[in-house]
Formats: sequence, C-alpha cells, structure tokens
Amino acid sequence: MGKANVIAIDGPAASGKSSVAAAVAERLNIPYVNTGNMYRAVALAAMSEGYETADSETKRLEILSSVLKNIKLEYVESEGILRLLLDGENVEAAIRTPDVAEQVSAIAAVPEVRSWLVDLQRKFAELGLIVMEGRDIGTIVFPNADYKFFLTASPEIRAKRRLEQSGETFDGATLESVAAKIAKRDEMDTSRAVAPLRKANDAVLIDSSDKSLEQVVELVVSNVEAGIPRTPKMECAMGKTTTMEYRVAYADTDKMGVVYYANYLVYFERLRNELLRDAGLPYAEMEKRGVMLPVVEAVCNYKKAAEYDDLLTISGWVEETGKTHVKICCEVRKNGNLLVSGHTVHVCVDIGTWRPIRFPEFMRSVLERRTPAR
Ligand code: DC
Repeated sequence: MGKANVIAIDGPAASGKSSVAAAVAERLNIPYVNTGNMYRAVALAAMSEGYETADSETKRLEILSSVLKNIKLEYVESEGILRLLLDGENVEAAIRTPDVAEQVSAIAAVPEVRSWLVDLQRKFAELGLIVMEGRDIGTIVFPNADYKFFLTASPEIRAKRRLEQSGETFDGATLESVAAKIAKRDEMDTSRAVAPLRKANDAVLIDSSDKSLEQVVELVVSNVEAGIPRTPKMECAMGKTTTMEYRVAYADTDKMGVVYYANYLVYFERLRNELLRDAGLPYAEMEKRGVMLPVVEAVCNYKKAAEYDDLLTISGWVEETGKTHVKICCEVRKNGNLLVSGHTVHVCVDIGTWRPIRFPEFMRSVLERRTPAR
C-alpha cells in the first residue's frame, strides 16, 4: 500500500504538539487536525450524559456506546481553518476545561472510542497533505504517514507550559500539582492496552525542552520540505487488510535451510494479533471481555520457500464471519511474490465454559473493520 499524505505529530501531554502542528500547518498552508480535541469532545458528550469515573465499568461503557451512536463529530472549514463541531456546535472552548482533562485519558483508553475515532481520522487522508496531531497518529492511525515526528520535553517544562495555558488547570494549581497530573496522564496514555503512546520506530524525535516554538516549527518544516524518505518497518494498511513485515530468523529455518513449514502458522498468528489490534481490540483485551477464538481449522498452501534473513510481508483480512465462526485469510510474500497463502477458522467461545457462543456485538464491529468489500 502507498504512503499517506500526512505529517504525523505525536507526543505526550503539554509537549507543545498543538502549537507546533498549528504553526506547521499555517506555514505550509494545509489543514490541521487535532485528534486530542476529538477525544475531548467525546469526553464532553459523555459527561453531559452523566458519565462519572465513580460509576461501574458497565454503566460507563453503556453511556459511551450510546454517545458514539448518537453524536455527530466533524471538522468543518471556516476561514481556512478546520473547526471541531459536536452536533453542529463549536466546542473548542468547552473541551479545554480541567474537568474534561480529568476524564479524557480514561475515556481515550476504551477500545470502542478509539476505533470509532480512528475510522473518522483516517477519512482526513482524502484532503491531500494534512498535519495531524495526537498520540497514535504515526503508529496506528497512519503508520504509513509520509512524515512522522515525536515531540517531547522534560516533565518540568511541560508542567510550566500547561500552567501558562489558560483554562487547562484548576484555580490554585501549582507547578507541583500540574506536574503530578501530567505524570498521571502520561502513565495512563502509555500503559493502556490499546494504542499506547509511543514513538514510531521511524519517527523523528524532537526534544523541545530547550527550543523555542519557532525552532521546532523550522525543524519540522525543513524535514518536510527536504522530503526526507522514511522506510516503514511495519505498514498496517489503511484499507481493510492488515500488513506487517517480518525478517526470518535462524531459529525459523529447518535442516533444509528454509522456513520450517509449520512456522507459517505462527506467522499467521502474529498477523492476526496485529489485525485485531489494528481494528481496535487487541486479543488480550478480548479475552478480558470473556471471549476466546480457538483455531478449529488451519490451511496452508506452499508455493515457494523463504530463507534465513528474508524480509517477508505478511498480510491478512477477515474472509467470512458466521454466527459463531470467523475465517481469516493470510498471505506471505517476498518482494511482492506470493510464497504461502492460507487461512484459519476460529470459533467464538465463552472463556469460562469453552462453549461456542454467538459473536458479541463488540466483536462483530471489530471483525467488520477488517472485512474487505466483495
Ligand atoms: O492532546 P490532548 O491532551 O488534548 O489529548 C487529550 C487526551 O486524548 C489525552 O489523554 C490523550 C488522548 N489522545 C489519544 O489517546 N490519542 C490521540 N490520538 C490523541 C489524544
């Protein structure tokens, strides 16, 4: 799959992403999308529906799924700038309150919220070159972005910047209390199971602790203007197929010096892991929700052999979903040439009883995201 026309800027809270992203967009005269604001808007909508941290997980999930069903979130252009509208109203001021900042990290960790927003964010690629800022733009939303930057700054500097931003902190906040809140959000953003905050392998790291805004903007713009090429380690397709790269290890090969045939089933499993994560629900998270997907059928067709140190491209998609079973197809290629193709069939079972069950609604929408149109 090709590259995405995106300048991805990721980084922790108060690292200066928004100011940098907005300034870069202005310099290059292209649209700017702040995805943190989208998470904040969902948090705002949930809070107005009575979402409270003290409620049970079931109640919180119920509120969130009803919010996702009912709200309309969009960026609409006004005077050359994209404005975030929630149900038709500009909420850019309403989402910058300490209350929203308190709730948003927990809400941003919920897989349904993430996949709903990621689907929306990927549509922006149709606009041509854009700047998109967030936590997972270079890793999950656009792993194939043309340009990737990871912005960071020391915790002290970030606390100082946050304190200077109006409306973001409670009255009477001190440098220490703000630093503690930022550290808590960093912890939640980096340790969550789905799309944790991390630098993409191929992102340019910029520590802005001792740099002015202008200097950082200059760095980003000069990288973009120079068209510095990236080599993506792993490309998850924006479409319905998940793709990953894998380099064959010595341990994978047999006495004939080729990849041992059974190992392709292990490669298929690696791919399925990425596929579910990519669709918004890592397998481990699914098991936490009481569902397992044991394999009941595995098929492999071998056309050509792979050898030690070959760089393989493994891709896969959901071929078919029944009431209780799903068929996932996989292909292994080298330099575009098909080596192995196959599939596995899985049955959805209850983790306690091991009895087959119908796919719960949350699984259907996850699988749907990786089912190509026929
Ligand atoms: O950048 P910000 O502080 O406005 O982001 C608000 C929250 O949303 C923050 O807790 C991290 C989360 N977020 C995310 O998980 N993924 C993104 N792409 C953007 C923001």
